[in-house]
Amino acid sequence: MRTPLIAGNWKMHKTLAEARELVTGIRAGAESVHSVDVLICPPYHLLFPMAKAIAGSRIKLGAQNAYHEPQGAFTGEISVPMLQDAGCSHVIIGHSERRHVFGEGNELLAKKVRAVVKSGLTAVYCVGETLAEREALQTHQVVQQQLNAVLSKEVPPDCLVVAYEPVWAIGTGKNASPEQAQEVHAMIRSRLAAIFDPTAAARIQILYGGSVKPSNAKGILDQSDIDGALVGGACLVATDFVSIIQAAV
Ligand code: PGA
Repeated sequence: MRTPLIAGNWKMHKTLAEARELVTGIRAGAESVHSVDVLICPPYHLLFPMAKAIAGSRIKLGAQNAYHEPQGAFTGEISVPMLQDAGCSHVIIGHSERRHVFGEGNELLAKKVRAVVKSGLTAVYCVGETLAEREALQTHQVVQQQLNAVLSKEVPPDCLVVAYEPVWAIGTGKNASPEQAQEVHAMIRSRLAAIFDPTAAARIQILYGGSVKPSNAKGILDQSDIDGALVGGACLVATDFVSIIQAAV
């Protein structure tokens, strides 16, 4: 019922030459997989050339962040209409590195999500607890708060993807077990049912992120409420990213 989505978050990696090589490998490997949505989220300088490189394929283009104002004196920022101009259909909002390295909070993220969906793009809204919060048994509370503070009926559910990324699993090599992830995903879906309605919640793709790699992808993606993955490190190697896409079939 929900098409799986495998998204690659390239973070601050790749020159143009490296990106061209990577996208060629992804395109070749993903071509035969028709039942999985594939998204690449390169850094800004690569958006236009990557849009060209994926033209005519099923691969979609996303950005890793956006500012909520459409234009203006905001040095160093990029707006949603600019990303749309570059060919983006998706924008990641609230990635844990934005929250924890750049201090973005729920109030700002709510504005960003609204700006993305107002332009008709899809927001990939990230939530997740820190290790200290998990150990203090606050995972549900923290994630629910991140959902409640940012999402509301004003956000069209068809323009929303949620990514559950436990902070302790990102870039650490330590992934949540499939059962741990499924438990939080089920909670997220029931929260989405309360915020929107059960029919909308049943349609929203909920991705898991945090050290997804070819060796653990299948177990994670087989869970009933896990509809795909937001992949960091492993998306920088074409063969690894393609293996994860194949694991989603
Ligand atoms: P990772 O990153 O796969 O390298 O853990 C995931 C993410 O930050 O989206």
